[in-house]
Amino acid sequence: MDKKRLRIAIQKSGRLSDDSMALLWAAGLSISRSKDGLFYRVENLPVDLLLVRDDDIPRLIGDGIADLGIVGRNVLEEYDEANGGPGTAKSDGKVLYSLGFSKCRLAIAVPEQTGYTSAESLAGLRIATTYPGLLNRFLKAGGIEAEIVAMHGSVEVAPRLGLADAICDLVATGATLEANGLKAVETILECEALLVGTGKPITTEKQQIQDRLLARIDGVLASRETKYIMLNAPLSALPDIRKLLPGSAAPTVIPLEGSADMVAVHAVCRESVFWETLEDLKGAGASAILVVPIEKMMV
Ligand code: PRP
Ligand code: ZN
Repeated sequence: MDKKRLRIAIQKSGRLSDDSMALLWAAGLSISRSKDGLFYRVENLPVDLLLVRDDDIPRLIGDGIADLGIVGRNVLEEYDEANGGPGTAKSDGKVLYSLGFSKCRLAIAVPEQTGYTSAESLAGLRIATTYPGLLNRFLKAGGIEAEIVAMHGSVEVAPRLGLADAICDLVATGATLEANGLKAVETILECEALLVGTGKPITTEKQQIQDRLLARIDGVLASRETKYIMLNAPLSALPDIRKLLPGSAAPTVIPLEGSADMVAVHAVCRESVFWETLEDLKGAGASAILVVPIEKMMV
């Protein structure tokens, strides 16, 4: 392994992998896949990708084997709980960005027929989970005495097997819970993919590569939400229309050839543009409204 190349750990296969690769690709990394599937080399920047199990990413960062990692908040916080809790966290991971993908929640679920009023209803129950650290943190904070049944997977079948009375697991669409006759009753943690950096010092060379990469990732994340809006409007409607343009500073206003009281308005909008926004703009007098995605931006 070349010590001069920045190493980024990403999940080999699973919930985060496709979007992690897509993010790095959008940041301009040209990634050549290797046969062993463990290291991918980036051709146009001194960067190597480490393809690993997501659960291993906090340790790789903590040990300084990887400089950056893309990992779910659930995995990072569970690792830190298991290694002494935040503050004494062994991952030493610094969250650099919330990446906005792989959103899910860590929730406690019980069989549909189970009566449930509040977290106190969990007292005395056996709860199966692959997140014993986070579950323990939640139970302790609420002063609830329950038994944690630590598992390595397939937690959702534990109640049917008689192994547990409840589960604590990730819920994204809710399909897994529904298929197993379970209902979510408490949310323990809202999760999404995070870009995590090492708390350890890195070389100046690596720092420069990292700064460059982070600026690009910043641009990718900003441009995902950002849209370019173009529309025509009567001059008199301009004040109302400016108020409706979501998250835009000063729009460009251009006269329209041949019509003295009409202008074209161009604006970069830094918030989601919904159909409702377009309807409101039209209601305010705008016409020929175009919403265009922005491919790249650097501010
Ligand atoms: C999680 C969880 C459930 C499923 C929930 O597993 O354990 O099986 O996702 O998603 P749903 O609400 O959309 O049905 P994941 O795919 O993350 O795999 P892992 O827990 O084995 O890493
Ligand atoms: Zn996993």
